Amino acid sequence: MAGQEDTAKDKQGKSVGYHGGTVDTVISVDEVNRQAAALAEAGVAPERIAELGGPEPYVKIEHLRAGYGKMEILHDFNLQVGRGKSLCLIGPNGAGKSTILHSIFGFTNIYGGAISIDGRDVTRMSSNDKLRHAGVAYILQDKSVFPGMTVEENLWMGGYLMEKPAKAKAKAEEIFAKYSRLAERRRHPARVLSGGERRLLEISRALVMEPEVLLVDEPSIGLEPRFIDMVFEILDDLQNAEGKTIIMVEQNAKKGLEFADIGYVLVSGQLAMAGPGKELLENPEVGRLFLGG
Ligand SMILES: Nc1ncnc2c1ncn2[C@@H]1O[C@H](COP(=O)(O)OP(=O)(O)OP(=O)(O)O)[C@@H](O)[C@H]1O
Ligand SMILES: [Mg+2]
Repeated sequence: MAGQEDTAKDKQGKSVGYHGGTVDTVISVDEVNRQAAALAEAGVAPERIAELGGPEPYVKIEHLRAGYGKMEILHDFNLQVGRGKSLCLIGPNGAGKSTILHSIFGFTNIYGGAISIDGRDVTRMSSNDKLRHAGVAYILQDKSVFPGMTVEENLWMGGYLMEKPAKAKAKAEEIFAKYSRLAERRRHPARVLSGGERRLLEISRALVMEPEVLLVDEPSIGLEPRFIDMVFEILDDLQNAEGKTIIMVEQNAKKGLEFADIGYVLVSGQLAMAGPGKELLENPEVGRLFLGG
């Protein structure tokens, strides 16, 4: 029977799972990739993507082929998400999740297909113009605060593309009014912030440009559980109180799928599964491969 001879499943005893929880059985990374690739064979029908995106998709990716240099990473990738909704991408390392965010923001070579926001074609628009004119902000996976600058200077930097610096300062004040954690430390160098506060600063800095679409790469990476919850509360507020559209990548598949309206599973540059976040969370295949259980 399929899977019976799976040696990894025969391992006895408890093992520490990817996110620190204990699980009874662990399957190897190679095995996850092999089984995930089998899922990707079937793919996801375009009708399903459209259905999940709703009647008026705000961000739309059609038949995208993109990569770096001459290397194509994404093959015929499609995505649709409505305004004020959230979508979370999960999948194995190297699947191309960050590359999707890079492509939306304009950091990749695009060989084919189209990306539109609010009905406007932005496929070939530069990153600066995306931020300035198309309302898209990208919150990097890597640490990106300027440690030697103060918290407030870091926030002002978020408005470097604004014509009037005063506008960035006014926006920074709004952010301080909302997040006392940052306000209390506004004149401190960013290097003294805790990991969670730093992530808050990174997210807040992107808000200075008043974006409509937030691209967020691994918001919870490297954070302690209490800060992970804080980051998801902030994202929840941005989506539900401020109406932002969020497209995120999250290694912590459970958190990401609990949060997002729509979940996508990406494998080797191809969409393997798509569904409401909560539905994917309960899918046994997703559980076995990405939730460590
Ligand atoms: N700037 C780059 N130049 C060349 N190749 C890149 C670049 N960034 C990523 N790649 C390659 O593209 C592929 C997909 O990478 P990507 O970062 O999108 O994966 P990911 O799904 O985000 O993985 P992870 O979970 O590890 O962050 C990988 O093979 C990677 O080596
Ligand atoms: Mg990545």
